[in-house]
Amino acid sequence: MTALLEGHSVSKHFGGLKAVDEVDFHLDEGEILGLIGPNGAGKTTLFSVITGSIPPTSGRVVLEGKDIAGRPAHRVVHSGACRTHQIVRPFARLTILENVVVGILYGRTAGHRPKTMGGARSEARDLLDFVGLGDRAASFPAELTLAGRKKLEVARALGARPRVLLLDEVVSGLNPVETQTLVELIRSVRQRDMSIIMIEHVMQAVMGVSDRVMVLDYGKKIAEGPPGQISRDPRVIEAYLGEEPEETENPDDGTESQGA
Ligand SMILES: Nc1ncnc2c1ncn2[C@@H]1O[C@H](COP(=O)(O)OP(=O)(O)OP(=O)(O)O)[C@@H](O)[C@H]1O
Ligand SMILES: [Mg+2]
Repeated sequence: MTALLEGHSVSKHFGGLKAVDEVDFHLDEGEILGLIGPNGAGKTTLFSVITGSIPPTSGRVVLEGKDIAGRPAHRVVHSGACRTHQIVRPFARLTILENVVVGILYGRTAGHRPKTMGGARSEARDLLDFVGLGDRAASFPAELTLAGRKKLEVARALGARPRVLLLDEVVSGLNPVETQTLVELIRSVRQRDMSIIMIEHVMQAVMGVSDRVMVLDYGKKIAEGPPGQISRDPRVIEAYLGEEPEETENPDDGTESQGA
């Protein structure tokens, strides 16, 4: 059986640096795959290759049977894979509702967009309710806390109605209560017939929510399996030695919406 999303020997080199080095992976329908690894392991680069922000140096990425590697980002979104960013990037001059409207209008092919602007706004409201920002629709992103901006980033990605949602550190930098809220949100996204790959440094979150975990180190996949097995894997423990895997992120991650 073929998986929803597959990577075959995916590599991305920056000059002499093998940021992603011949990585094979797959994501099954309805699955939550955790992607972990020390800083600089190549996790975000792998997301960028999957979602078309950068072309792979070599290898294939196959989504629902179609080779998407090297396609431009908007076409990958239209094909059904949408990401959030480690450094959240809301449109600072648009309201929170309008930010989600943009996700809906640009994230879908013409045939799948709402017919009217009123329809798009109504769908955006539903998504804001879903992520817990229903009462902030008319505010601007700068008025949100980091947790709020992460939720907005999720709502905007969901606007595209992806089959595969790629979450790049949506929990990092949040306090324990906010973390729990985001973890619950990720679980409820799965109920919406979506499959998820989540990059995360907060071990408790990624181990608690993932069906399977894949570990990168220096661009290479060093382990893959159920969370319980991965947390005991000596190669994984060694890769993390000397660094504190949890909460290495600066909670204020420099979004353009700061300080306005
Ligand atoms: N555009 C680029 N040009 C050159 N080198 C890059 C570029 N993007 C990433 N790198 C390098 O590739 C390696 C992997 O970076 P990447 O951001 O994918 O790591 P990561 O696993 O997401 O790390 P973190 O946990 O810190 O977010 C790093 O050594 C990084 O410096
Ligand atoms: Mg990263």
